[in-house]
Amino acid sequence: MAATEDARDWRRTHTCGELRAEHIGQEVVLNGWVNARRDHGSIYFVDMRDRYGITQVVLDETNADAVKLSSEDVISVRGEVIARSEGNVNTERPTGAIEVKVTRLEILAKSETPPFEVAGGDEPAVEIRLRHRYVDLRRAGMQRNILHRGHFIGAMRRAFEAQGFCDIETPVLTKATPEGARDYLVPSRVHPGSFYALPQSPQIFKQILMVSGFDRYYQVARCFRDEDLRADRQPDFTQLDVEMSFVEEEDVFAVWERALVETFREVMHVELPVPFPRLTYAESMERFGSDKPDTRFAMELADVAAWAAESDFQVFKNVLASGGRVMGIAVPGGAELSRKAIDQLGAYAGEFGAKGLAWWKAAADGGSGPLARFATDGKATTLMEALGASEGDLCLFVADTEKVVRRTLGELRVKLGRERGLVQPGWNFRWVTRFPMFEFDDESGRWNSSHHPFTAPSDWDLAGATGPEDPALGGLESRAYDLVLNGWELGSGSIRIHRTDVQRRIFEILGIGEDEQRAKFGFLLDALKYGAPPHGGFAMGLDRICALTLGLDNIRDVIAFPKTTSAADLMCDAPSPVTDEQLRDVHIALAPSAIAARERAAQAADVSDASES
Ligand code: AMO
Ligand code: AMP
Repeated sequence: MAATEDARDWRRTHTCGELRAEHIGQEVVLNGWVNARRDHGSIYFVDMRDRYGITQVVLDETNADAVKLSSEDVISVRGEVIARSEGNVNTERPTGAIEVKVTRLEILAKSETPPFEVAGGDEPAVEIRLRHRYVDLRRAGMQRNILHRGHFIGAMRRAFEAQGFCDIETPVLTKATPEGARDYLVPSRVHPGSFYALPQSPQIFKQILMVSGFDRYYQVARCFRDEDLRADRQPDFTQLDVEMSFVEEEDVFAVWERALVETFREVMHVELPVPFPRLTYAESMERFGSDKPDTRFAMELADVAAWAAESDFQVFKNVLASGGRVMGIAVPGGAELSRKAIDQLGAYAGEFGAKGLAWWKAAADGGSGPLARFATDGKATTLMEALGASEGDLCLFVADTEKVVRRTLGELRVKLGRERGLVQPGWNFRWVTRFPMFEFDDESGRWNSSHHPFTAPSDWDLAGATGPEDPALGGLESRAYDLVLNGWELGSGSIRIHRTDVQRRIFEILGIGEDEQRAKFGFLLDALKYGAPPHGGFAMGLDRICALTLGLDNIRDVIAFPKTTSAADLMCDAPSPVTDEQLRDVHIALAPSAIAARERAAQAADVSDASES
C-alpha cells in the first residue's frame, strides 16, 4: 500500500452498528455496503450496512461520486457524526439518533445489480438464493442464523471443555462406519481399485479413543451420509460427538444436561429445567405413537379396545380378534370441523397405511358421526372416559396392526396439535431410553440394529438367544437412547459393547460373517481385545439444534453452504464431471450410462448458455 495519507485512511474507525448520540462531533470512517440510496435533490441519504448494523450517511454535491452509487457497492466514507433533526430520529434502529455527514466518499468496489434484493423485497426462490449464496448470506435473517450457529457451537464447546472433555479430531478419509446410510466413496490413486469412505460418524474412532484411555472425548465432527434428503437432513452435516469411559446412561445424560443448560443460559437467556424427563421407548410409542414425541401438547393416544370389544362395530372387533389394536385420540374442540375437513384427515391417515379413519363428535347423549350408533346406552360416557374426551371434542379412531395404529394416530396428533394451536411454547427436552435392540427387516428377512451394531444390549447374555432365528431377540432391549426436543430427534447415543465376545455375537445375529467382520471391523475387534473400558456416548445434530433454537423448520438455513434435496451445491456446481485424465489417475472407467448422462448434462448446459447470451 502506498504510504500516502489517503491510501491508508479508508479503513473503518467504527462499524456500521456502533455509532450513538455519544459519538456526535467525532470524525469517523465507516466501511460497508450500500443498502439503499435515497435522493433528495442534491442530497443523498445512503444506508450503509455491515454485519453489525446499518448507519445512515448523508452526501451532497461535494461528493462527486455520490450519483454513481448503487445497491451493494462497497464504500468507505469519512465524515462527522451529527445529530438527526428531531423528526428524523429512527427509534427502530440502534444508530437511529445520528447520521454521518460525509466529507469523503471512496467506492472500494462496484456491484452489478444483485440477483435479488438484500434488504427487503420478496423472498427469492430457494434455487436462486443457493446459486448466489454470497448475496443471500448478506440478508439480515441469514446473517442472524449463521452468527447464531457460531455462537451456539462455541458455547457448547466451552461447556464440554469445562467438564474436562478433550477435543480430538478423527479422519475424514477413512473406512465405512455403519449408521444406516450409504457411504460417500473416494477412490484411491495409490491403491488401484481401493476406496476410502467418508465417515457417517466418528463412531468407531471414538470408541477406540476410549480403549486408548482418553476417557472424555468430544468433537465438532463433519459427517457424510448418502441418504434421501429432507428438511432435517443434509448429505454433509455436523454432529457434536461425545464419548466417555466408566459410565452408565445417567452419567451421559448428566453431562449433556449441564452442557445444554449452560449453552441455553448463555445463548438463549433461558434457564432449562433439569433433569430432562425420561421416558422409555415403549411408553413413548404407546402414548404418542412416536419415538420423538412432541410433548408441548397432550392429545395422547388412548386404547379403546375394551369399548370396541363390547361394541357391535364388526370392523373393530375383527381387528381385535386378529391381534390388532384399536386406539383413538380426542381433538379438543374438534367437533367444529366440517365433514370435508374430516374426510381430508381420513385421506391423510391413508398415507400411513390406515384402512379407514372412524370419527365421533363426543357428547354424553351419544354425539354424532359414523361411530355414534356404537355410543348409545351410556357407552358414550365410557368412551369419553377412555379417550379423556370432553363434549365438543372430535374423536378419531384407527383399528389396525399396532404399527399402523401408532404411526397414523401419532402423525394425526402432531398435525392437528400444530394446526389447531395447541402447542404451548417451551423447550421440551425428553430422553427416550431402552430402544429395541433389533428390528426385523421383512424384505431381507434379517435383523438390523435399531441404533448401530456397537450398542450394548440390556442383557450381556442376549436373553440367552442362541442364534438369529431366536424369537427372543425381537423383545430384547438395548441401552440406546435419544434426546428429543419438541418432536425432533436431536441426537442419539448408547452404552457400547466393550466385550469382544458380545460384539461377535451381535455381528452373527446381524448376519455379518467372520470374513466380513474381519474385513470391515477387524481393527475394532482387535482394539476391544486390549483392555476396553466400559464406555458410552452420544452425538447431537448441531444443524438441528441451531435450526430449532431459531424457530426454523429447515436446517438448510443454518448451514452457510448447504445442498439441495438432490444433494447438489448450486453455487459451486458440485458434483460435476472430471477430466478423463483425473479418472485415469484414480483407475476409474465410467459405465456407458454415466457417460451418456454426462453428455446429456453437457448438452443441456450448452443450450442454456446459448439462450442466455
Ligand atoms: P445418529 O445416526 O442418530 O447417531 O446421528 C446423531 C444425530 O445426527 C443428526 N443427523 C443428521 N443431521 C442432519 N442431516 C443428516 N443427514 C443427519 N443424520 C443424522 C441427528 C441425529 O440425531 N454414532 C451415533 C451416535 C452415538 O451413538 O454416539 C450416530 O451417529 O440429529
Ligand atoms: P363402514 O362401516 O365401512 O361404513 O365404516 C365406518 C367408519 O369406520 C368409516 O368412517 C371408516 O373410515 C371407518 N373405518 C373402516 N375401517 C377402519 C379401520 N380399520 N380403522 C378405523 N376406522 C375404520
